[in-house]
Amino acid sequence: MQPVRAIYPGTFDPLTNGHLDLIARGAKIVDHLVVSILRNVNKGKPLFTIEERLEMIREETRRFPNVTVEAFDGLLVDFARQQGAIAVLRGIRAISDYEYEFQMAMMNRKLAPELETIFMLPHEKYTYVSSRLIKGVFQLGGDVSDLVPKLVMERLQAKV
Ligand code: PNS
Repeated sequence: MQPVRAIYPGTFDPLTNGHLDLIARGAKIVDHLVVSILRNVNKGKPLFTIEERLEMIREETRRFPNVTVEAFDGLLVDFARQQGAIAVLRGIRAISDYEYEFQMAMMNRKLAPELETIFMLPHEKYTYVSSRLIKGVFQLGGDVSDLVPKLVMERLQAKV
């Protein structure tokens, strides 16, 4: 069997403890995991630049010897092939995530039948955590300090 290389794609604007929890779970079951940050998103202006996100995620994943962090443009399946990945890792927090994830996984399968999607469940305590909510709550003065890594919290504070 060849070593299993997988990508964990997302926007990560910013990285949350839910993402980190999933990275830790993924890193246990694959030989190499490439956290892959999408450069161009249609979700409006990101809070953190790609460089800031790369730096934060690299710092936070330094403790995992089999995890690297990259940024990508274009189709996820093209990036996966370029990385030599045979699987895509995605987290499902609740049933509400499933429909979107199912559509993406099926479209990716149509585009690249050889690529498998692996769904994992983050810890229950992060089921409601999303980057979008973190940004919204933080910008209105809410405390999100136990939902994001310390470094991300510091960077959020520096942004405001
Ligand atoms: O963190 P997100 O925003 O839920 O991640 C979404 C992501 C990056 C996985 C998705 O938008 C994506 O794969 N974009 C790349 C473009 C692409 O390949 N689209 C076709 C897949 S349906």
